[in-house]
Amino acid sequence: MERLYIRGQRKLNGEVVVSGAKNAVVAIIPAAIMAAGVSVIENLPRIADVRSYVTTLNGLGAKCEFIDEQTLRIDATEINDFHADSEDVRKMRASYYLMGALLGRFKQAVVALPGGCNFGSRPINLHLSGLKALGAEISEDYEKGVISLKADKLVGTSIFLDTASVGATINIMLAAVYAEGVTTIENAAKEPHIVDTANFLNMMGARVKGAGTDVIRITGVEKLHSAQYMIIPDQIEAGTYMIAAAVCGGDVKVSNLIPKHMDSLTAKLKEAGCKIEEGDDYIRVVSDGNLNAINVKTMAYPGFPTDLQPQMAVLLCRAKGTSVLIENVWENRFQYVTELRRLGCDITVDGRKAVIIGQPVLNGADVSATDLRAGAAMVIAGLCAMGETRIGNVKYIDRGYERIEYKLRSLGADIERVSEPNA
Ligand code: EPU
Repeated sequence: MERLYIRGQRKLNGEVVVSGAKNAVVAIIPAAIMAAGVSVIENLPRIADVRSYVTTLNGLGAKCEFIDEQTLRIDATEINDFHADSEDVRKMRASYYLMGALLGRFKQAVVALPGGCNFGSRPINLHLSGLKALGAEISEDYEKGVISLKADKLVGTSIFLDTASVGATINIMLAAVYAEGVTTIENAAKEPHIVDTANFLNMMGARVKGAGTDVIRITGVEKLHSAQYMIIPDQIEAGTYMIAAAVCGGDVKVSNLIPKHMDSLTAKLKEAGCKIEEGDDYIRVVSDGNLNAINVKTMAYPGFPTDLQPQMAVLLCRAKGTSVLIENVWENRFQYVTELRRLGCDITVDGRKAVIIGQPVLNGADVSATDLRAGAAMVIAGLCAMGETRIGNVKYIDRGYERIEYKLRSLGADIERVSEPNA
């Protein structure tokens, strides 16, 4: 087992470069198998989900090869297996995109029920009803833990999503690229990774319009060609470092980001008392560590992202006064609170609402990353706490953060990864 050891209360200073977006790359890699040819994906984050995808696609008959650590060549000319149900597939939540990608190109797919972080019920009913509306026959085998999809052909139609689901929007978009006629997705999600996936598909010859608004129109095509594409920067990784700088105090330039994607966070950090400077592709956060209590509600993009909610909770634990944090996206995303309490955080949860009373000081403790973003929150808590914090279950953090300890060390943090074979 690996743990992160953090000796806290150091100010953060310097520059940190944001990696490619996890939630874009996990959609764009499967999208790449929709063309019989060789696509090249650049600005890949070095995270566990990318490695799981590479093994998965190779298992389907594709030939994936890293040109360098951040560039992946995917030759999807000869996909000869439509069963994606390996352990790697089960590990990743986003492997559900293989349903849309395989169904679109081959009109058949058998995909393992998705895994990933557990924070309450994570249904995929909207993905399935959307794919069904395009003409797929779907059966679920809960004993084997797989979903089978098959279609003679896919036909475009109008699909209204009850909830603006990121995954359902992308999955339907993937399959609809190869459907006859026009598909309209209404109440579509608008997150930056949806726009990025649509841009990649369009570079491959798809005809997707409206991504980034709540109505996406896809005109089906018969063929896609391979493409070379650079993934957008990771909005959530960027936000995590911005919050870390705000909480610890210091002067941090978070570079290689798209400032517009950060608007909801930037507004909240200013409200909490940080100074923010925005450039074309960077945001500088200057903080003396003395923060004011503020209220935060998570919402679909462009609202405050749920994936920054646990990290923001840590900021509120250190802000002066009482803050209210409301989680509107996931029904059970406060599980990490028990861990934060070990450091002395005062958080009361009532359903989707957390009331947080800021503390002048947090104390280092042994904690566990209960999921990816909860893990990021533990790291920030450890960075600002007095004494040593040891974080277990680092594998969750590695699912979404490239070399987090290196990046934080470059800002002056005292953090190291320790392998503990007997822990
Ligand atoms: N929902 C349904 N039915 C569905 C799908 C979703 O009711 O078929 C509901 C969910 O229960 C939830 C809401 O819709 O309440 C939003 O879920 P969404 O489908 O948008 O989430 P997702 O696609 O499974 C992606 C990200 C998550 C992020 C959410 C919300 C990926 C791979 N994952 O998940 O990222 O929290 O959107 O923005 O893109 C993370 O990066 O840590 C992470 C969990």
